[in-house]
Amino acid sequence: MSSDSRIQPLAAVLTAAVALLVGCADFERGPAAADAGVTPVDGGGNGDGGDAVSFETDVHPLLTTGCQSCHRSGGSAGSTSFLLTGESDADYAAASALTDSANPSASRLLRKAAGAGHGGGAIYGADTPEYQTLLSWISGGAQP
Ligand code: HEC
Repeated sequence: MSSDSRIQPLAAVLTAAVALLVGCADFERGPAAADAGVTPVDGGGNGDGGDAVSFETDVHPLLTTGCQSCHRSGGSAGSTSFLLTGESDADYAAASALTDSANPSASRLLRKAAGAGHGGGAIYGADTPEYQTLLSWISGGAQP
């Protein structure tokens, strides 16, 4: 009948655990009031971070990556009116001509990219971020 009970160490562990939980329960962060009243400056749009979609930085890479393999002279879509060179100014002219800012989602560029009656199939389906980028670009007036 010796008392070899291990209750005490166990109780100590439990106590520690409870203390931890209680400690953690009070990690409440105060609401951040720091940015109240600060107006983000995104009017100028030079550089990154503005919300306007740029052809050169946002759209052109999507076209060279997803479309140029066929849409170049000598490519399988080389006989269409949509030819990419890899050069931003020229490609802007080709791409913007296929947009309709008054009805962005009906733009030929976007319909074909999403696969509607497109020899190249669906490249950027309507549920992809790339499609959204193209749509935002056209909605914003297809700016260079
Ligand atoms: C695998 C090859 C292939 C890829 C990749 C491809 N296309 Fe096409 N595309 C074609 C073919 C072939 C045609 C011609 C038949 C047709 O009109 O669908 C065509 C036609 C088009 C047209 C009609 C051009 C005209 O003369 O009116 C547009 C616009 C177009 N594609 C946009 C795109 C866009 C945007 C991408 C990239 C997101 C893309 N295509 C990627 C093969 C491709």
